Amino acid sequence: MLFRGWGESVNARWPDVATVLDHVGVGHLVVTRHALVRQILTDPVTFRPDNALDAVTPIPVTALRILAGHRFRLPPTLANNSGASHPEIRGIVADALHPTRVAAQQPWLTALVRQRVDRLTTALDTGETVDLYADLAADLPLLVLARLVELPDAPVGAVKEFARAALELFWAPLDADRQRALAAEVGSFHTVLREFAATGGGLAARLRAAGHSPDVVVSALFFLLVAGQETTSQFLTLLLHRLTGEPEVRAGLRTGEVAVADVVEEGLRLEPPIVTWRRVAAVDTTLGGTAVPAGTSIVAWLARAGRDPEVVAAPGEFRPGQRGSRRHLAFGAGAHRCVGAQLARMEAAVVVAEAAPLLDGVTVVRPPWCPDNLTFRMPDTFVIRRS
Ligand code: HEM
Repeated sequence: MLFRGWGESVNARWPDVATVLDHVGVGHLVVTRHALVRQILTDPVTFRPDNALDAVTPIPVTALRILAGHRFRLPPTLANNSGASHPEIRGIVADALHPTRVAAQQPWLTALVRQRVDRLTTALDTGETVDLYADLAADLPLLVLARLVELPDAPVGAVKEFARAALELFWAPLDADRQRALAAEVGSFHTVLREFAATGGGLAARLRAAGHSPDVVVSALFFLLVAGQETTSQFLTLLLHRLTGEPEVRAGLRTGEVAVADVVEEGLRLEPPIVTWRRVAAVDTTLGGTAVPAGTSIVAWLARAGRDPEVVAAPGEFRPGQRGSRRHLAFGAGAHRCVGAQLARMEAAVVVAEAAPLLDGVTVVRPPWCPDNLTFRMPDTFVIRRS
């Protein structure tokens, strides 16, 4: 389950908590129930976020040297920061992603998506195949993020490659050759970020002005560039794929009987791009009656929590607006709850509203394929054509 926390494993029988050994023999306490996952996420004193960005495959010295050659450092700033600086750093990022600023991007994004959907409709009409990941979803969140937060002047393709390399380096089961290649990729983009952090405007300038060190500024930008765009493009791809198999939901969207916002929430519940999130036990404690020694790695199975029958009426079915649909934990909970939730929801709502009609009468030529990963789905492609 550890590296494929979606698909069949997410529906299988599981105890409330279970120790699962990973590929290098480290045990993780996997937590499957909604109430327990929520308890962990909202209690940062007992279950600290310090290990959120730890590499699940220990990085060998040869790859560490490559990272060190790029002066790679990621001090705790956001997701893995249990220190006193967290609220202030989070506040500065939250200001940049304020709901008013997010809402102001909606018309621009709608026009862009509409343009793309028109082009893709023509392509489908003429019998061509269309990749809804590459041709629609992949770069949209990065383009919006760049309008909200000043980012280094790097080509979209380079940022996407760096972000996916980071997700693989820190969350995938890997061999040493691959780790070295990923370290080189992640390290060289880190150098770009370091230069930008020293001179860039917008968020970087605000963090500098608040007295944060260059390492903290780089670290915040690093996390935002990964968490703030890759997650959402994965979600858009997975949601569109899911909707291909939900003709009644699409019909409801057409007639207005089904609300776009409800489709987005049900999508987050059933197709979250982040399937697990980690915490570490800070003290000896218990969870659902199981003893948890201090230092235990806790894997909060977010995708499973969204399917808890104690919370959702029909856990495995895509029924927008059903009881419990919005109580998913796809964005986490508590002090570290996703600060970009509003932005991700806005982007998904625009894409569902504009692109769902594309899915009528299509055949899936190539469904999204997701590599082994502890946390991220990382779909690579989603190809359709008219039936
Ligand atoms: C569908 C898309 C997204 C999903 C599913 C998602 C999910 C998550 C999750 C599970 C966490 C950890 C929460 C916890 O520890 O309780 C998180 C944290 C975070 N996310 Fe997102 N995220 C998404 C999009 C975004 C976007 C668009 C941004 C910003 C542009 C963003 C920025 C962040 C930040 C900064 C944190 C760390 C917050 C903190 O530690 O204070 N995320 N996200």
